Amino acid sequence: MSRIENGRFVVTGGAGFIGSHLVDALLARGAAKVAVVDNFFLGKDENLAAAVAAHGDRLTVYRDDASDFHTMAAVCDREKPDGVFNLATKALAYSFFNPAGAYDVNTALTLTCLELLRKGAYGRLLHLSSSEVYGSAQTVPMDENHPLLAETTYAAGKAGADLALQSYVRMFKLDASIVRPFNNYGTRQNDQAFAAVIPITVRRIMAGKPPLLEGDGAQTRDFIYVLDTVDAILRVWQKGARRGEAMNLGSGKETSIKALIDAIAAIMGFSGEYERAPERVSDVRRHCASVARAEGIIGTIATTPLEVGLKTTVEWYLARAKAGGRA
Ligand SMILES: NC(=O)c1ccc[n+]([C@@H]2O[C@H](COP(=O)([O-])OP(=O)(O)OC[C@H]3O[C@@H](n4cnc5c(N)ncnc54)[C@H](O)[C@@H]3O)[C@@H](O)[C@H]2O)c1
Repeated sequence: MSRIENGRFVVTGGAGFIGSHLVDALLARGAAKVAVVDNFFLGKDENLAAAVAAHGDRLTVYRDDASDFHTMAAVCDREKPDGVFNLATKALAYSFFNPAGAYDVNTALTLTCLELLRKGAYGRLLHLSSSEVYGSAQTVPMDENHPLLAETTYAAGKAGADLALQSYVRMFKLDASIVRPFNNYGTRQNDQAFAAVIPITVRRIMAGKPPLLEGDGAQTRDFIYVLDTVDAILRVWQKGARRGEAMNLGSGKETSIKALIDAIAAIMGFSGEYERAPERVSDVRRHCASVARAEGIIGTIATTPLEVGLKTTVEWYLARAKAGGRA
Protein backbone atom coordinates (compact mmCIF):
# COMPACT_ATOMS: atom_id res chain seq x y z
CA MET A 1 0.00 0.00 0.00
CA SER A 2 1.37 3.42 -0.94
CA ARG A 3 -0.26 6.71 -0.20
CA ILE A 4 -0.86 9.57 -2.59
CA GLU A 5 -1.67 11.98 0.23
CA ASN A 6 1.47 13.77 1.43
CA GLY A 7 3.53 11.84 -1.13
CA ARG A 8 6.19 13.39 -3.37
CA PHE A 9 6.17 12.48 -7.06
CA VAL A 10 7.97 13.07 -10.33
CA VAL A 11 5.89 12.77 -13.51
CA THR A 12 7.93 12.54 -16.71
CA GLY A 13 5.86 13.79 -19.66
CA GLY A 14 3.58 15.56 -17.17
CA ALA A 15 2.76 18.41 -19.57
CA GLY A 16 1.28 15.96 -22.07
CA PHE A 17 -2.20 14.53 -22.45
CA ILE A 18 -2.40 11.73 -19.85
CA GLY A 19 0.44 13.20 -17.77
CA SER A 20 -1.30 16.51 -17.12
CA HIS A 21 -4.46 14.74 -15.98
CA LEU A 22 -2.33 12.57 -13.70
CA VAL A 23 -0.70 15.71 -12.27
CA ASP A 24 -4.16 17.21 -11.59
CA ALA A 25 -5.29 14.04 -9.84
CA LEU A 26 -2.15 13.69 -7.70
CA LEU A 27 -2.48 17.28 -6.53
CA ALA A 28 -6.24 17.02 -5.98
CA ARG A 29 -5.67 13.91 -3.85
CA GLY A 30 -3.27 15.70 -1.55
CA ALA A 31 0.23 14.98 -2.89
CA ALA A 32 2.72 17.13 -1.00
CA LYS A 33 4.74 17.82 -4.15
CA VAL A 34 4.56 17.01 -7.85
CA ALA A 35 7.50 17.73 -10.15
CA VAL A 36 6.92 17.53 -13.89
CA VAL A 37 9.89 16.83 -16.18
CA ASP A 38 8.84 17.52 -19.76
CA ASN A 39 10.86 18.75 -22.72
CA PHE A 40 7.68 20.16 -24.32
CA PHE A 41 8.09 18.14 -27.48
CA LEU A 42 4.29 17.78 -27.45
CA GLY A 43 3.64 19.04 -23.91
CA LYS A 44 1.81 22.32 -23.47
CA ASP A 45 1.69 24.94 -20.75
CA GLU A 46 -2.08 25.14 -21.19
CA ASN A 47 -2.37 21.50 -20.07
CA LEU A 48 -0.91 22.48 -16.71
CA ALA A 49 -2.65 25.85 -16.37
CA ALA A 50 -5.40 24.55 -14.07
CA ALA A 51 -2.88 22.75 -11.84
CA VAL A 52 -0.68 25.83 -11.63
CA ALA A 53 -3.68 28.02 -10.75
CA ALA A 54 -5.09 25.68 -8.12
CA HIS A 55 -1.95 24.12 -6.60
CA GLY A 56 1.03 26.06 -7.97
CA ASP A 57 2.78 25.99 -4.57
CA ARG A 58 2.96 22.16 -4.76
CA LEU A 59 3.95 21.90 -8.43
CA THR A 60 7.30 22.50 -10.12
CA VAL A 61 7.76 22.18 -13.86
CA TYR A 62 11.23 21.31 -15.20
CA ARG A 63 11.51 21.94 -18.95
CA ASP A 64 14.06 19.31 -19.57
CA ASP A 65 14.93 15.95 -21.09
CA ALA A 66 13.86 13.17 -18.75
CA SER A 67 16.05 10.65 -20.59
CA ASP A 68 19.14 12.53 -19.42
CA PHE A 69 20.52 10.80 -16.34
CA HIS A 70 22.16 13.91 -14.86
CA THR A 71 19.03 16.01 -15.30
CA MET A 72 16.84 13.43 -13.60
CA ALA A 73 19.44 12.85 -10.87
CA ALA A 74 19.42 16.58 -10.12
CA VAL A 75 15.60 16.66 -10.09
CA CYS A 76 15.46 13.69 -7.70
CA ASP A 77 18.14 15.22 -5.50
CA ARG A 78 16.12 18.40 -5.20
CA GLU A 79 12.61 16.94 -5.02
CA LYS A 80 13.28 13.79 -2.96
CA PRO A 81 10.41 11.91 -4.63
CA ASP A 82 8.81 8.80 -3.19
CA GLY A 83 7.89 7.70 -6.68
CA VAL A 84 8.26 8.36 -10.39
CA PHE A 85 5.49 7.94 -12.95
CA ASN A 86 7.25 7.55 -16.31
CA LEU A 87 4.95 8.86 -19.04
CA ALA A 88 7.31 10.76 -21.33
CA THR A 89 7.43 9.59 -24.93
CA LYS A 90 7.40 10.87 -28.46
CA ALA A 91 4.15 9.99 -30.20
CA LEU A 92 3.65 6.73 -32.12
CA ALA A 93 3.38 8.71 -35.37
CA TYR A 94 6.86 10.16 -34.69
CA SER A 95 8.28 6.68 -35.40
CA PHE A 96 7.51 7.13 -39.12
CA PHE A 97 9.45 10.41 -39.11
CA ASN A 98 12.40 9.16 -37.03
CA PRO A 99 12.21 5.38 -36.48
CA ALA A 100 15.47 5.02 -34.56
CA GLY A 101 14.77 8.13 -32.46
CA ALA A 102 11.32 6.85 -31.49
CA TYR A 103 12.81 3.55 -30.33
CA ASP A 104 15.73 5.21 -28.54
CA VAL A 105 13.72 7.73 -26.56
CA ASN A 106 11.35 5.10 -25.15
CA THR A 107 14.18 2.89 -23.93
CA ALA A 108 16.47 5.76 -22.79
CA LEU A 109 13.72 7.35 -20.65
CA THR A 110 13.05 4.06 -18.89
CA LEU A 111 16.72 3.15 -18.40
CA THR A 112 17.31 6.52 -16.74
CA CYS A 113 14.38 5.95 -14.37
CA LEU A 114 15.66 2.44 -13.61
CA GLU A 115 19.25 3.51 -12.97
CA LEU A 116 18.09 6.20 -10.54
CA LEU A 117 15.81 3.72 -8.78
CA ARG A 118 18.73 1.29 -8.51
CA LYS A 119 20.88 4.02 -6.98
CA GLY A 120 18.21 4.87 -4.40
CA ALA A 121 17.27 8.31 -5.76
CA TYR A 122 13.60 7.45 -5.16
CA GLY A 123 11.57 4.47 -3.97
CA ARG A 124 9.20 3.22 -6.63
CA LEU A 125 8.63 3.38 -10.40
CA LEU A 126 5.34 3.04 -12.24
CA HIS A 127 6.12 2.93 -15.93
CA LEU A 128 3.57 3.54 -18.68
CA SER A 129 4.03 1.07 -21.47
CA SER A 130 1.42 0.70 -24.21
CA SER A 131 -0.96 -1.84 -25.72
CA GLU A 132 1.03 -1.19 -28.91
CA VAL A 133 3.69 -3.62 -27.63
CA TYR A 134 1.31 -6.49 -28.51
CA GLY A 135 0.82 -5.55 -32.18
CA SER A 136 -2.38 -6.90 -33.73
CA ALA A 137 -4.43 -9.23 -31.55
CA GLN A 138 -3.62 -12.92 -32.07
CA THR A 139 -6.31 -13.75 -29.52
CA VAL A 140 -9.15 -11.63 -28.13
CA PRO A 141 -9.31 -10.34 -25.47
CA MET A 142 -5.57 -9.73 -25.17
CA ASP A 143 -4.05 -10.51 -21.81
CA GLU A 144 -0.57 -9.60 -20.62
CA ASN A 145 0.87 -12.90 -21.91
CA HIS A 146 -0.01 -11.95 -25.47
CA PRO A 147 3.20 -12.11 -27.56
CA LEU A 148 5.04 -8.83 -28.11
CA LEU A 149 4.64 -8.26 -31.86
CA ALA A 150 5.38 -4.54 -32.07
CA GLU A 151 4.35 -3.09 -35.45
CA THR A 152 6.29 0.18 -35.09
CA THR A 153 9.66 1.21 -33.65
CA TYR A 154 7.70 3.25 -31.10
CA ALA A 155 6.08 0.03 -29.91
CA ALA A 156 9.39 -1.86 -30.10
CA GLY A 157 10.95 0.82 -27.86
CA LYS A 158 8.08 0.40 -25.41
CA ALA A 159 8.53 -3.39 -25.45
CA GLY A 160 12.30 -2.99 -24.98
CA ALA A 161 11.64 -0.69 -22.02
CA ASP A 162 9.30 -3.26 -20.46
CA LEU A 163 11.90 -6.02 -20.81
CA ALA A 164 14.58 -3.74 -19.34
CA LEU A 165 12.35 -2.95 -16.36
CA GLN A 166 11.62 -6.61 -15.76
CA SER A 167 15.31 -7.52 -15.90
CA TYR A 168 16.21 -4.70 -13.45
CA VAL A 169 13.57 -6.05 -11.07
CA ARG A 170 15.05 -9.54 -11.32
CA MET A 171 18.63 -8.31 -10.97
CA PHE A 172 18.21 -5.69 -8.26
CA LYS A 173 14.83 -6.49 -6.62
CA LEU A 174 13.56 -3.01 -7.45
CA ASP A 175 10.04 -1.78 -6.75
CA ALA A 176 9.00 -1.15 -10.34
CA SER A 177 5.96 -2.18 -12.34
CA ILE A 178 4.27 -1.54 -15.66
CA VAL A 179 0.83 -0.49 -16.82
CA ARG A 180 -0.16 -0.92 -20.46
CA PRO A 181 -2.96 1.48 -21.35
CA PHE A 182 -4.99 0.84 -24.48
CA ASN A 183 -6.19 3.79 -26.62
CA ASN A 184 -6.82 6.86 -24.51
CA TYR A 185 -8.94 9.79 -25.56
CA GLY A 186 -10.28 12.89 -23.87
CA THR A 187 -9.61 16.54 -23.21
CA ARG A 188 -6.09 17.90 -23.88
CA GLN A 189 -5.13 15.17 -26.36
CA ASN A 190 -2.69 16.60 -28.88
CA ASP A 191 -4.50 17.71 -32.06
CA GLN A 192 -1.53 19.07 -33.99
CA ALA A 193 1.44 17.21 -35.54
CA PHE A 194 1.52 13.46 -34.73
CA ALA A 195 -2.13 13.52 -33.60
CA ALA A 196 -4.32 10.41 -33.25
CA VAL A 197 -7.64 9.60 -34.94
CA ILE A 198 -10.05 11.34 -32.54
CA PRO A 199 -8.41 14.79 -32.47
CA ILE A 200 -7.72 14.55 -36.22
CA THR A 201 -11.38 13.79 -36.95
CA VAL A 202 -12.67 16.55 -34.68
CA ARG A 203 -10.29 19.08 -36.20
CA ARG A 204 -11.26 18.15 -39.74
CA ILE A 205 -14.98 18.52 -39.07
CA MET A 206 -14.38 21.81 -37.24
CA ALA A 207 -12.46 23.04 -40.30
CA GLY A 208 -15.36 22.10 -42.60
CA LYS A 209 -13.58 19.04 -44.05
CA PRO A 210 -14.95 15.48 -44.17
CA PRO A 211 -13.51 12.92 -41.73
CA LEU A 212 -10.68 10.81 -43.15
CA LEU A 213 -11.24 7.03 -43.13
CA GLU A 214 -8.03 5.07 -43.65
CA GLY A 215 -8.40 1.50 -44.91
CA ASP A 216 -11.74 -0.28 -44.57
CA GLY A 217 -12.48 1.14 -41.12
CA ALA A 218 -12.94 -2.35 -39.67
CA GLN A 219 -9.67 -2.08 -37.70
CA THR A 220 -10.53 -1.98 -33.99
CA ARG A 221 -9.24 -0.37 -30.82
CA ASP A 222 -10.11 -0.50 -27.15
CA PHE A 223 -10.85 3.12 -26.21
CA ILE A 224 -10.63 4.27 -22.61
CA TYR A 225 -11.43 7.76 -21.35
CA VAL A 226 -8.34 9.47 -19.97
CA LEU A 227 -9.79 10.13 -16.51
CA ASP A 228 -10.65 6.43 -16.17
CA THR A 229 -7.01 5.60 -16.97
CA VAL A 230 -5.72 8.12 -14.45
CA ASP A 231 -8.04 6.79 -11.76
CA ALA A 232 -6.80 3.26 -12.48
CA ILE A 233 -3.13 4.36 -12.41
CA LEU A 234 -3.61 5.93 -8.98
CA ARG A 235 -5.33 2.81 -7.69
CA VAL A 236 -2.46 0.70 -9.02
CA TRP A 237 -0.10 3.01 -7.12
CA GLN A 238 -2.13 2.73 -3.93
CA LYS A 239 -2.82 -1.01 -4.01
CA GLY A 240 0.61 -1.95 -5.30
CA ALA A 241 1.30 -4.02 -8.38
CA ARG A 242 3.43 -7.14 -8.31
CA ARG A 243 7.02 -6.06 -9.01
CA GLY A 244 8.02 -6.40 -12.63
CA GLU A 245 4.49 -7.29 -13.68
CA ALA A 246 2.66 -5.58 -16.53
CA MET A 247 -1.02 -4.73 -16.20
CA ASN A 248 -3.42 -3.84 -19.03
CA LEU A 249 -5.66 -0.79 -18.56
CA GLY A 250 -8.54 -0.66 -21.03
CA SER A 251 -12.29 -0.79 -21.30
CA GLY A 252 -12.46 -4.40 -22.51
CA LYS A 253 -14.64 -3.17 -25.39
CA GLU A 254 -13.71 -3.29 -29.06
CA THR A 255 -14.74 -0.40 -31.33
CA SER A 256 -14.06 -0.18 -35.06
CA ILE A 257 -12.50 3.01 -36.40
CA LYS A 258 -15.52 3.40 -38.72
CA ALA A 259 -17.91 3.21 -35.73
CA LEU A 260 -15.73 5.68 -33.84
CA ILE A 261 -15.75 8.20 -36.71
CA ASP A 262 -19.51 7.69 -37.14
CA ALA A 263 -19.99 8.54 -33.45
CA ILE A 264 -17.89 11.72 -33.72
CA ALA A 265 -19.70 12.71 -36.93
CA ALA A 266 -23.07 12.23 -35.21
CA ILE A 267 -22.04 14.36 -32.22
CA MET A 268 -20.75 17.12 -34.53
CA GLY A 269 -23.69 16.95 -36.95
CA PHE A 270 -21.61 15.85 -39.97
CA SER A 271 -23.62 13.79 -42.44
CA GLY A 272 -21.60 13.87 -45.70
CA GLU A 273 -19.31 11.29 -47.33
CA TYR A 274 -15.96 10.49 -45.69
CA GLU A 275 -12.69 11.04 -47.51
CA ARG A 276 -11.02 7.67 -48.09
CA ALA A 277 -7.32 6.82 -47.93
CA PRO A 278 -5.36 3.55 -48.11
CA GLU A 279 -4.74 1.57 -44.96
CA ARG A 280 -1.97 3.04 -42.82
CA VAL A 281 1.38 1.26 -42.83
CA SER A 282 1.89 -0.88 -39.71
CA ASP A 283 -1.62 -0.13 -38.48
CA VAL A 284 -2.67 -2.57 -35.78
CA ARG A 285 -5.70 -4.52 -37.08
CA ARG A 286 -7.41 -5.51 -33.86
CA HIS A 287 -7.07 -4.50 -30.20
CA CYS A 288 -9.17 -5.44 -27.21
CA ALA A 289 -7.91 -5.65 -23.63
CA SER A 290 -8.36 -8.29 -21.03
CA VAL A 291 -8.37 -6.29 -17.82
CA ALA A 292 -8.79 -9.31 -15.53
CA ARG A 293 -5.34 -8.91 -13.99
CA ALA A 294 -5.80 -5.21 -13.19
CA GLU A 295 -9.33 -5.69 -11.90
CA GLY A 296 -8.12 -8.54 -9.66
CA ILE A 297 -5.88 -6.01 -7.91
CA ILE A 298 -7.61 -2.63 -8.09
CA GLY A 299 -11.26 -3.65 -8.56
CA THR A 300 -13.46 -2.61 -11.46
CA ILE A 301 -11.92 -0.11 -13.87
CA ALA A 302 -14.29 2.81 -14.41
CA THR A 303 -15.46 2.89 -18.01
CA THR A 304 -17.04 6.11 -19.17
CA PRO A 305 -19.34 5.17 -22.09
CA LEU A 306 -17.65 6.07 -25.39
CA GLU A 307 -20.49 8.37 -26.52
CA VAL A 308 -20.32 10.28 -23.22
CA GLY A 309 -16.54 10.65 -23.27
CA LEU A 310 -16.55 11.63 -26.94
CA LYS A 311 -19.19 14.30 -26.35
CA THR A 312 -17.15 15.83 -23.50
CA THR A 313 -14.04 15.70 -25.68
CA VAL A 314 -15.67 17.30 -28.73
CA GLU A 315 -17.18 20.04 -26.55
CA TRP A 316 -13.75 20.73 -25.08
CA TYR A 317 -12.13 21.13 -28.54
CA LEU A 318 -14.98 23.38 -29.66
CA ALA A 319 -14.78 25.55 -26.52
CA ARG A 320 -11.01 25.84 -26.83
CA ALA A 321 -11.30 26.89 -30.48
CA LYS A 322 -13.90 29.48 -29.57
CA ALA A 323 -11.78 30.87 -26.74
CA GLY A 324 -8.51 30.87 -28.67
CA GLY A 325 -9.67 31.32 -32.23
CA ARG A 326 -8.25 27.90 -33.21
CA ALA A 327 -9.79 25.60 -35.78
N1 LIG B 1 -2.53 8.23 -25.48
C1 LIG B 1 -2.68 6.92 -25.58
O1 LIG B 1 -3.64 6.43 -26.20
C2 LIG B 1 -1.72 5.98 -24.92
C3 LIG B 1 -1.97 4.61 -25.01
C4 LIG B 1 -1.06 3.73 -24.42
C5 LIG B 1 0.03 4.21 -23.75
N2 LIG B 1 0.25 5.54 -23.68
C6 LIG B 1 1.44 6.00 -22.97
O2 LIG B 1 1.08 6.97 -22.02
C7 LIG B 1 2.13 7.93 -21.89
C8 LIG B 1 1.56 9.32 -22.09
O3 LIG B 1 1.01 9.40 -23.41
P1 LIG B 1 0.25 10.69 -23.92
O4 LIG B 1 -0.79 10.24 -24.85
O5 LIG B 1 -0.08 11.56 -22.79
O6 LIG B 1 1.40 11.36 -24.80
P2 LIG B 1 1.80 12.90 -24.95
O7 LIG B 1 2.61 12.99 -26.19
O8 LIG B 1 0.62 13.78 -24.83
O9 LIG B 1 2.72 13.11 -23.68
C9 LIG B 1 4.06 12.72 -23.66
C10 LIG B 1 4.86 13.87 -23.10
O10 LIG B 1 6.24 13.48 -23.04
C11 LIG B 1 7.00 14.64 -23.37
N3 LIG B 1 8.34 14.20 -23.77
C12 LIG B 1 8.73 13.60 -24.93
N4 LIG B 1 10.04 13.31 -24.88
C13 LIG B 1 10.48 13.72 -23.67
C14 LIG B 1 11.74 13.70 -23.01
N5 LIG B 1 12.83 13.16 -23.60
N6 LIG B 1 11.82 14.23 -21.77
C15 LIG B 1 10.75 14.78 -21.17
N7 LIG B 1 9.54 14.82 -21.74
C16 LIG B 1 9.40 14.29 -22.97
C17 LIG B 1 6.20 15.35 -24.42
O11 LIG B 1 6.53 16.72 -24.53
C18 LIG B 1 4.78 15.15 -23.92
O12 LIG B 1 4.36 16.20 -23.09
C19 LIG B 1 3.18 7.55 -22.92
O13 LIG B 1 4.22 6.85 -22.30
C20 LIG B 1 2.44 6.65 -23.90
O14 LIG B 1 3.27 5.72 -24.51
C21 LIG B 1 -0.59 6.44 -24.25
